[in-house]
Amino acid sequence: MRVLCLNGPNLNRLGKRERDAYGTFTLAELETELAQFAAEQKIELTCRQSNHEGELIDWIHQAGDDGLDGIVLNAGAYTHTSVAIRDAIAAVPVPVVEVHISNVYKREEFRRHSYIAPVAAGQITGFGKDVYKLGLHALLLRNQGG
Ligand code: DQA
Repeated sequence: MRVLCLNGPNLNRLGKRERDAYGTFTLAELETELAQFAAEQKIELTCRQSNHEGELIDWIHQAGDDGLDGIVLNAGAYTHTSVAIRDAIAAVPVPVVEVHISNVYKREEFRRHSYIAPVAAGQITGFGKDVYKLGLHALLLRNQGG
């Protein structure tokens, strides 16, 4: 299985930003741990992060063209604003698992709406950095037809 883990805006600030909401781990630590888990599961994983909407969209299109088996996507604040990212997901046949480190339903009202959820395979929110592993796991089960 080939999977892309995509992180959106401000997630490069993990460990420094709003630690009460997002914990103290850095993006590099998260990606290292995830890469280890992926290797154990025989998943070929690529991790990318961008603060730019268009770049995220280009990578989603690329994942479609490359025939990847899934994307684990934390679109950050673009989740709540971006019709363009939603349309990019709808434009490729790759299943997307939407993930959020914090429980977006426990927070401000504006975080409760996701443009991505209606075009995602599913959503995992609120389990800290484990949401990324849970996202990979969901893709594995889906790939096995479970
Ligand atoms: C987030 C939740 C979003 O509302 C927020 O804008 C983020 C991170 C999360 O992982 O909990 O940047 O996606």
